Amino acid sequence: MGERYAVRAEGMEKRYGDKHALAGFGLAVREGTVHGLLGPNGAGKTTAVRILSTLVRLDGGRAEVAGLDVVRQARQVRARIGLTGQYAAVDEVLTGRQNLEMFGRLFHLGGRRARVRAAELLERFDLADAADRGVGEYSGGMRRRLDLAASMILSPAVLFLDEPTTGLDPRSRGEVWEAVRALVADGTTVLLTTQYLEEADKLASRITVIDQGRAIADDTPNGLKDLVGGDRIEVVVADRAEIPRVVKTVARVCEGEPEADEEASRVHAPVTDRVAALTEVARTLQDEGVAVEDIGLRRPSLDDVFLRLTGLRTTAAEEAVAA
Ligand SMILES: Nc1ncnc2c1ncn2[C@@H]1O[C@H](COP(=O)(O)OP(=O)(O)O)[C@@H](O)[C@H]1O
Ligand SMILES: [Mg+2]
Repeated sequence: MGERYAVRAEGMEKRYGDKHALAGFGLAVREGTVHGLLGPNGAGKTTAVRILSTLVRLDGGRAEVAGLDVVRQARQVRARIGLTGQYAAVDEVLTGRQNLEMFGRLFHLGGRRARVRAAELLERFDLADAADRGVGEYSGGMRRRLDLAASMILSPAVLFLDEPTTGLDPRSRGEVWEAVRALVADGTTVLLTTQYLEEADKLASRITVIDQGRAIADDTPNGLKDLVGGDRIEVVVADRAEIPRVVKTVARVCEGEPEADEEASRVHAPVTDRVAALTEVARTLQDEGVAVEDIGLRRPSLDDVFLRLTGLRTTAAEEAVAA
């Protein structure tokens, strides 16, 4: 069964003067999915998205979007994509509806089709009630949803979202996530860049981690978490002086080596049989009369993954220098 890809790129190179913005970056995005491109500020995310959306020239390597070469078939690529940037392109003075109708006419939809499409999109992005209010009065989340709607005017096959929730409060961020989920349910493929690990975790079925212009990992969110090991049990004690006793108990019950974080009054250790370990540790500590503030199981977060990956990269670079 052949997988179909909305984006395939290999060995992408981009230099700005002596700055290597992309240094052999590649990724493959399956059709009909949300793919996360996760990396810190300056990693090369926007550069990659701008090349894939034909706005910036590739210096080396190759990239295809919707099966079309981004350099040789740039015009056809542009007809199949939508792009939402970090900065919204909507006009403050106009209403939400007027903005969308204007975009529709810019894309040569014709007056009536532009009106119909605008109404559909206002409904879809939950903006129907605010449609005839000036965008100046919109909240951050509403503006970002309007921006998403504008990029969907032509029903693109592939949508690039460059940090769609940066600068939004948690509630607005959740609203944008809902909108992205709705798009994918409709069959659009989304490549979403983010600095938020939680966002990639929530939305993406696959994640490419980018750092210094290179892909340093590519996996499912769970696959990435497995990189840093499995579940851990965590015990937070009321009194730090109890830490040595807790370490002993946890060591006896769990097979992995416990670690203590004195600062946080916390002991943690890897576990395999999650529930058995949790009940056993909780009961033993209670029998021993240790005052426990909190006890629980924790799956490694993407934060752990990211620290681990970028940490490994640093180590590898240091070793290369030392060699
Ligand atoms: N137009 C440009 N001119 C010079 N340097 C640039 C330009 N665009 C990006 N860069 C540099 O390339 C690197 C990657 O930038 P960018 O792709 O914007 O990263 P991200 O979107 O992940 O924050 C950064 O070091 C940035 O300073
Ligand atoms: Mg960027």
